[in-house]
Amino acid sequence: MLVSKVKYIQALGVRCSSSHYVTTPIFYVNAAPHIGHLYSAVIADAHCRYQRLRHPERKVRLCTGTDEHGTKIQQAAAAHKVPVGQYCDEVSARYRDVFRAAGIEHDDFIRTTEQRHKQAVAHFWHRLQSRGHIYSAAYSGWYCVSDETFLTESQLRLDATSGTRYSLESGHPVEWTEETNYMFRLSQFQDDVRHWVQQEACIRPAKFQKILLDTLSEPLPDVSVSRPANRVHWAIPVPNDDTQTVYVWLDALINYLSSLGYPNEQYLADWPPAQQIIGKDILKFHGIYWPAFLLAAGLAPPQQLHVHSHWTVDGQKMSKSKHNVVDPVQAAQQYTMEGLRYFLLREGVAHSDGRNC
Ligand code: ME8
Ligand code: MG
Repeated sequence: MLVSKVKYIQALGVRCSSSHYVTTPIFYVNAAPHIGHLYSAVIADAHCRYQRLRHPERKVRLCTGTDEHGTKIQQAAAAHKVPVGQYCDEVSARYRDVFRAAGIEHDDFIRTTEQRHKQAVAHFWHRLQSRGHIYSAAYSGWYCVSDETFLTESQLRLDATSGTRYSLESGHPVEWTEETNYMFRLSQFQDDVRHWVQQEACIRPAKFQKILLDTLSEPLPDVSVSRPANRVHWAIPVPNDDTQTVYVWLDALINYLSSLGYPNEQYLADWPPAQQIIGKDILKFHGIYWPAFLLAAGLAPPQQLHVHSHWTVDGQKMSKSKHNVVDPVQAAQQYTMEGLRYFLLREGVAHSDGRNC
């Protein structure tokens, strides 16, 4: 525990900024945006507008963007018979356009296919590796392409008739995968992450802090942080090993740093994020993996996670992959964009799902 506390304090020793850095998730470009994505952006935008009014002297920075690598995007582009790069350009532009139409005043719109981001990921990888937090191993497990994550048996539901296994949480099917991967020593950060969740971070609403603490009450397994390049070619290559590509979630999380110019030291002026807005579907990645990756790299984890719940349709999460979405462009034609923004902020509550869209 002492060691873990020392490591934590060392990471925080990196200068804390006086600016107020706010982020939204970066959204997968496997389909056009729906009102759930706009919801996260509107919450972040409203929060930033409030901060600017409240503290005119303070620098407030809002970053959003698109997450463009991995199997899910490869498959979406192939299904549309469009070259994957072009596919990403087209769908990313739809996010940018909707956010512009909705008056989201972001300071940066980052795309993970940009060079500045690839450089940040390579640097971050070197940091993890040189500090001994990455090793190579044969790995097998159930992979969920839709959620871009390996899942354990206890996180699955078996459909006895078809023999197919599904993620308990998202309902998406998984496939058995055996490959050589680089692994990250997540297990060594259990105490540090628990300390952050319990003592340092502000995780709101509090029920999400409790969910994280429940997860942390079980031993954390190490996580795979690369995939074979011959399976996942649309990804950032692992530095010095072109047989492997960087796992899309490690790639994606680093966007919060690359937007600030990391590894150029200018990023320290805004680091760490004051507020990261996320949906509850990606709590594990932001509340467990992300602080562990940052602490492993010697960086301070975010100060606050604002976690919101989901818009649902007939009791199911509104989701690009379930094709049950409300298109914000159409909704704005009907209700005006101001009306849609008002609806999302007025009717959405963070702690429970919104119904009957
Ligand atoms: O998970 N209700 O991207 P994603 C409310 N690329 N919000 C919703 C929602 C719903 N029904 N559906 C989506 C990813 N959202 C990763 C993130 S971050 C480093 C990488 C919002 O396109 C909500 O913010 O699946 C959710 O967390 C996010 O979109 C997931 O978007
Ligand atoms: Mg999703």
